[in-house]
Amino acid sequence: MQNAMQMGKGPVPVSRPLTLRGPCGRCPSGAGMLELPFLPFCALLGGLGVACVAFVSAWCQQWRGGFAWDGSARMFNWHPVLMVTGLVVLYGAAALVYRLPFSWRGPKLPWKVLHGALALAAFCLAVPGLVAVFSFHDARGTPNMYSLHSWLGLATVLLFSCQWLAGFASFLLPWAPAWLRALYKPVHVFFGSTILMLAVASCVSGINEKLFFSLKNGTTAYARLPPEAVFANTLGLLILLFGVLVLWALARPDWKRPEADSVDTRQPLLSAER
Ligand code: HEM
Repeated sequence: MQNAMQMGKGPVPVSRPLTLRGPCGRCPSGAGMLELPFLPFCALLGGLGVACVAFVSAWCQQWRGGFAWDGSARMFNWHPVLMVTGLVVLYGAAALVYRLPFSWRGPKLPWKVLHGALALAAFCLAVPGLVAVFSFHDARGTPNMYSLHSWLGLATVLLFSCQWLAGFASFLLPWAPAWLRALYKPVHVFFGSTILMLAVASCVSGINEKLFFSLKNGTTAYARLPPEAVFANTLGLLILLFGVLVLWALARPDWKRPEADSVDTRQPLLSAER
């Protein structure tokens, strides 16, 4: 059969394998893929995100003495709360913006702005989160940056900052040439998932470290599994589950914006038309 190229009409967009598509061309036919609508999944994920924030806040309030901004252990408590809320929950939400079905139609610019704004909000929480732990260490004369958690955590925040700046410069500023945006997009997508994984690993290692520091003696020794340890271990699992579900949602082909609409290589992104 003669294709469009042979008929002189230029290249046609590459379509996805028909075997995975339903009659609408977007939803899975059921072959090899769990059929699941995105919005109920999103509600479930939102509930899980709220649970992560509630658990980390309750842990710090109930067992670690609450919150203050005075260099004490209560100042440290802002660190887990702000890091989990910012770099896991808000950042996870930012990653999923383009999976919302209503973002597939119409101009893409508002969704880009929302994506960038949510990531920026995550960063704005992470900064005081880091200030809290560094000030706590300085006030007590504890050395900085000695643990695996601190190296992993700082690497995550640095990568996150580079990702945000490069994304802003490439996708939101009008000067970036189309070829550069097309070249950078897969890199941005790859690091987006990697950074989320690193943030989850940082949280899990941080929770583990805090429990080892805090639960040392008698009936509250970590090895005796006191209620605090059960609670904080559960928090770690919730964070892990949240991260895995976000990565799973990002990887599902049927929840992706149709490629023909999403490779935005022709116009500057701040032009009126997009
Ligand atoms: C994405 C999330 C996180 C990042 C990026 C991160 C980053 C960091 C960094 C850079 C430090 C070093 C501070 C210093 O050396 O003065 C640190 C310390 C610390 N963090 Fe986190 N953190 C995260 C989440 C958590 C969570 C959820 C906890 C749970 C309690 C936690 C517990 C700790 C503890 C106990 C320290 C002090 C000991 C040490 O330096 O390793 N962190 N964190």
